[in-house]
Amino acid sequence: MRLTVNTVEETQTLAARLAKLVQPGDTILLNGDLGAGKTTFTQGLARALGIRRPLKSPTFTLVREYQTENFPLYHLDVYRLGEEGGGDELGLAEYFGGEGVALIEWSEFIQSELPQDVLIIDLSRLDQDETGLLRTISVRATGPRSEAILAALEK
Ligand SMILES: Nc1ncnc2c1ncn2[C@@H]1O[C@H](COP(=O)(O)OP(=O)(O)O)[C@@H](O)[C@H]1O
Ligand SMILES: [Mg+2]
Repeated sequence: MRLTVNTVEETQTLAARLAKLVQPGDTILLNGDLGAGKTTFTQGLARALGIRRPLKSPTFTLVREYQTENFPLYHLDVYRLGEEGGGDELGLAEYFGGEGVALIEWSEFIQSELPQDVLIIDLSRLDQDETGLLRTISVRATGPRSEAILAALEK
């Protein structure tokens, strides 16, 4: 699935649709460069789950946990592990496949910790066109659970 998003609202509308589909144990990877919209997407998803607390990027804490009505939401941003490495010693895998839903920014830095079945959301900023900055969001699945989410999202 691939779509063009022209505004923050469009990005967050997709995130809100995803919020209706996630279940405890789901892991979602948010890929894309700095400024691609990973945190913006997560904010849209969190708000749709009824989280009122402002969602701040957890760059220095690695993980922030939010409580929703039904499950915890874990927002991971492991960007700083890129320089330091050592992600596999931090026990981050405890956030995946358990009682909560995990969204991960810069998951490539904890590759060996990730479960097999994940929903991957690629956010990208393409070149400037005459109407502004073109952005696209692509979603793909790597296993049965994420395939089910993707199928529902495509409806
Ligand atoms: N369509 C869009 N989707 C997401 N963010 C957008 C969009 N258009 C503009 N922006 C802006 O781009 C920035 C994205 O920042 P952020 O979500 O923090 O990126 P990341 O977490 O990927 O580094 C925000 O300032 C946001 O307002
Ligand atoms: Mg971010």
